[in-house]
Amino acid sequence: MTDLYAVVGHPVGHSKSPKIHAQFAVATAQDMEYTAIQAPLDGFVPTVTAFFDRGGKGLNVTVPFKQEAWKLCQIRTAGAETAGAVNTLWRDAEGRLCGDNTDGCGLIRDITCNHQVVLVGKRVLVLGAGGAVRGILQPLLAELPGEVVIANRTPGKAETLVDLFPGVTNLRAVAFDQLAGAFDVVINGTSASLAGDLPPLPSEIITSQTVTYDMMYGSDVTVFNAWAQSCGANRCLDGLGMLVEQAAEAFARWRGVRPETQDVLAFLRALG
Ligand code: ATR
Repeated sequence: MTDLYAVVGHPVGHSKSPKIHAQFAVATAQDMEYTAIQAPLDGFVPTVTAFFDRGGKGLNVTVPFKQEAWKLCQIRTAGAETAGAVNTLWRDAEGRLCGDNTDGCGLIRDITCNHQVVLVGKRVLVLGAGGAVRGILQPLLAELPGEVVIANRTPGKAETLVDLFPGVTNLRAVAFDQLAGAFDVVINGTSASLAGDLPPLPSEIITSQTVTYDMMYGSDVTVFNAWAQSCGANRCLDGLGMLVEQAAEAFARWRGVRPETQDVLAFLRALG
């Protein structure tokens, strides 16, 4: 029997996940179907329960339900626990709802495997302190960067994220106007790009060695990456690879086989 999977969000019509997982399924010969389900804003829990009760095997969760998914889980992976958000759900043999967060892992795989950027010992700047950034900090720190600085418009929120990692001495929070010196890697995890905005950043953070990564993506270069290019950055990467890699991590968790991602990434790039 064909196993059922889906992504739940609101809105969800724009999601690329059904295309990505359909290609993974073909490439790894898995008998599965993956659809998109729009849950009412106040109806996430009944939507999830109904899906699993009718035999569904796994769900991805997207905006705005990732924190609600975290609360709903009876069992969470260590990564999901720290992230405070869940993007991958399944039921275990006892019927308990389990959750993982594959976003951070997906980002790191894209940066280090697809783009061959070494993070060990590097000076890394993370912009933003919302849910997206919280999800990437643990996998980022696991790469043993020399220093991670979180800069946010509301500095108290960056401090709160630093407090999640007591004893980690190479992680600190600053306000944008305290940013100084050059960084090897700058990751934009703010939602400013969505509104075509750019945080107030000094150009000295970018040099000809700097790699920038915008967790957003679109058919055009993001506002942040366009700015970084104008400052002379070495390479400016967008978040499409992160999207495909987080999907591959979820697929591996559900199916026990990790799909290759290069063909899917090339296909999505070609679509624009
Ligand atoms: P997400 O789940 O995508 O991280 P979020 O939790 O709403 O969404 O967080 C959005 C992040 O983008 C926050 O860090 C926010 O800064 P504040 O904490 O000060 O609100 C940041 N952000 C949004 N618009 C911004 C802008 N125009 N300039 C700078 N930062 C912005």
